[in-house]
Amino acid sequence: MSNDIIRNAAEKVAALRDHFIHHERFEPLEARFAMLVAKRLSDLDAGRSSEAHGLALSGPSGTGKSAAMHHLLAGVGQQLSTTRHWDAPIISLRVPSPATLKFVGYTLLRALGYQIGSERQAWYIWDLVRHHLKERQVLFVHLDEAQDLASRGTKHELNAVASMLKTLMTDPDWPVGIILSGTPELEDILNHDSQLARRMGSVA
Ligand SMILES: Nc1ncnc2c1ncn2[C@@H]1O[C@H](COP(=O)(O)OP(=O)(O)OP(=O)(O)O)[C@@H](O)[C@H]1O
Ligand SMILES: [Mg+2]
Repeated sequence: MSNDIIRNAAEKVAALRDHFIHHERFEPLEARFAMLVAKRLSDLDAGRSSEAHGLALSGPSGTGKSAAMHHLLAGVGQQLSTTRHWDAPIISLRVPSPATLKFVGYTLLRALGYQIGSERQAWYIWDLVRHHLKERQVLFVHLDEAQDLASRGTKHELNAVASMLKTLMTDPDWPVGIILSGTPELEDILNHDSQLARRMGSVA
């Protein structure tokens, strides 16, 4: 009996946890992202090969960034897979630690469903990442806790990762939009790299 009550309560808590509450801070994010998706789809349909753009969502810890991104990406992802029959139009992952160029590439490759030995070199891993992004028609890659790219890695690694993100967005064959979310330190990455910042809209 008491077990039933506990189970019942646990199920209610779990259902509440899955329930996303719309709030006004979500709206600019939703609108920006809808614009990015529309632009990318119209470029694709017209056979235009222009750079993809991205966005960065920053805010203090616990303000609902991960929840908002999850809700947003799940909704748009679902819509794209039904209308366009793509199996994975958006890939979402947490920045791994250590946030080196090689390990970020390796984690992204795994998120794309491809496993390789970690002894491979960074350029080889990223070549495969780009190949699979195109093969699977991934439109956007979302990196959560993106501030870890700046705080945990060395400056050299940050430069390397920022330049790889730019490369993905400007790939003439298959440009991929990058979505970053994280605490306000994430802005350091954009301040550090103006070419990356120019291609990313910021939402705070
Ligand atoms: N719109 C929402 N509706 C319902 N629950 C929410 C909403 N936004 C946030 N939450 C809940 O609030 C808690 C904190 O949110 P979340 O983990 O998304 O914050 P965060 O900004 O990603 O924090 P951190 O920077 O520490 O990762 C989570 O338990 C999440 O489920
Ligand atoms: Mg979070």
